[in-house]
Amino acid sequence: MTHRTMRDFLSALEKKGLLRRIARPVDRMWEPAALAKWMYQALPEEKRFGMYFENVKGYRIPIVTAALGASTATYATALDVEPESINDAWVRACRNPIPPKVVDKAPCQEVVITGKEVRLSCLPIPVWTPGKDKGPYLTTNTVTKDYDTGIQNMGVYRSMVRDETNLVSNLGPGRHGYVNTLTWTDKGKAAPIAWAIGAPPAVHLATVANLPYGADEITIAGGMIGEAVNMVKCKTVDLLVPAEAEIIIEGEIHPGETDMEGPFGEFAGYMGPVDRRPVVRITAITHRKNPIFYGYTSQMPPSESTTIQSLTNAGMLLKMLRHDMGEISVTDVFIDQTFGGLLAHVIVAMKPSYPGHSKKVGRLVAAMSPLKRVTVVDEDVDIRDHTHVDWAMNSRYNPSRDTVLIDDAYFPINMDPSIRSTTSQNTMGSKVVCDATLKVDAGTFSLPPKEIMMKALDLWKEIGLPEFEIPKRAKLRIDRS
Ligand SMILES: Cc1cc2nc3c(=O)[nH]c(=O)nc-3n(C[C@H](O)[C@H](O)[C@H](O)COP(=O)(O)O)c2cc1C
Repeated sequence: MTHRTMRDFLSALEKKGLLRRIARPVDRMWEPAALAKWMYQALPEEKRFGMYFENVKGYRIPIVTAALGASTATYATALDVEPESINDAWVRACRNPIPPKVVDKAPCQEVVITGKEVRLSCLPIPVWTPGKDKGPYLTTNTVTKDYDTGIQNMGVYRSMVRDETNLVSNLGPGRHGYVNTLTWTDKGKAAPIAWAIGAPPAVHLATVANLPYGADEITIAGGMIGEAVNMVKCKTVDLLVPAEAEIIIEGEIHPGETDMEGPFGEFAGYMGPVDRRPVVRITAITHRKNPIFYGYTSQMPPSESTTIQSLTNAGMLLKMLRHDMGEISVTDVFIDQTFGGLLAHVIVAMKPSYPGHSKKVGRLVAAMSPLKRVTVVDEDVDIRDHTHVDWAMNSRYNPSRDTVLIDDAYFPINMDPSIRSTTSQNTMGSKVVCDATLKVDAGTFSLPPKEIMMKALDLWKEIGLPEFEIPKRAKLRIDRS
């Protein structure tokens, strides 16, 4: 069972030495974000950590960032699984969803602020690209609901603080949060919306899953935790929010009310364009007595945003391929952590069972996901090891025979800078499938047979040469030599 609260998770992370407390007072308008940028830009993944800013100038509320997505290790700690079991944990959670449980009393409503008392500046909302973003932004779970079905959705849609009582939320066309708000505003009604800050970690990580419209991420979070997530009714809008969250912001989108949103530093590594987006009138702020403010570090990759989206959506794809599409030949999926798990590079490992099978799976992945580059390899390749994937590309991929180009793929313009045109009009994107599975019998590997390699390993140790752990790449090769 995974942690029921963000606090439990932060304690577990600290015990593992994966969380750093920073006691020096920091200015929310630039210091937490700029320090987090150094961590992602300078430190290798295995050295990164969650950042807990204990003293935020002018506030009694600490800021935490990067705890969920500093690295695969912090992410795995959030789900209480081993790093190599992350995909399996998501597959299990998706196959065993647990609906939430509605409770009357909730820690997230220990303090309730409504009416004229509401002021967004009572929260230490950071500026994430200091010197370039338009202002402070919420980067956390957004809750919306379909008016007609009553089914809720959770997604992360960055939301700009416009003034003390209004946010402008980047609910882009096609995104489920936006579709949900239209089901209200198209009928002339105000759409309810809420942000859950510092929710249970499984809720945060399920929120970035690309699920089909109508699937509520909270049921997958329940499946991951192994127990229903407690949800409580908001104080001023008709929505349920995670009861154990640190802070909840409630609001309404009124029909036709929009304003310019941005600029904001995006996950693709560039400042995004400014666009017209819905305005949210804030109706309440509720929180625990001593709340913790949690915000995701995004912007230039790698970042927390790219790490969590890649890891969550690899699990989702594996589940869809194996259990919804019946492609049980697929053994593993990995999404590179440089592009938000959205338009990035996905590597699929499989056991092809008929000619053209691997290309078919590659096309399927390209069609059912927003991913831009799909590489398919055999199951004897460690898809998390660049050198092994490169070797497969060099030794098993014949570009003129093994490439599928897919035209006219639609990506919203502000997500993929490579398709921005000089006139700022959207141009269509494209996708590529590279089939790097073996199509001919290339003979045995050019390594000595396994028994000789193992005898040599004993000799290595006897001589006292430097110790090592056998890399997965080497193991996969030696086992087949
Ligand atoms: C920090 C962060 C910021 C994000 N900002 C946005 C955003 O502003 N707009 C958007 O469409 N997706 C954004 N995403 C990606 C979505 O949250 C993600 O794709 C999610 O699955 C969308 O939910 P939906 O499929 O239910 O719409 C962001 C993700 C993260 C981690």
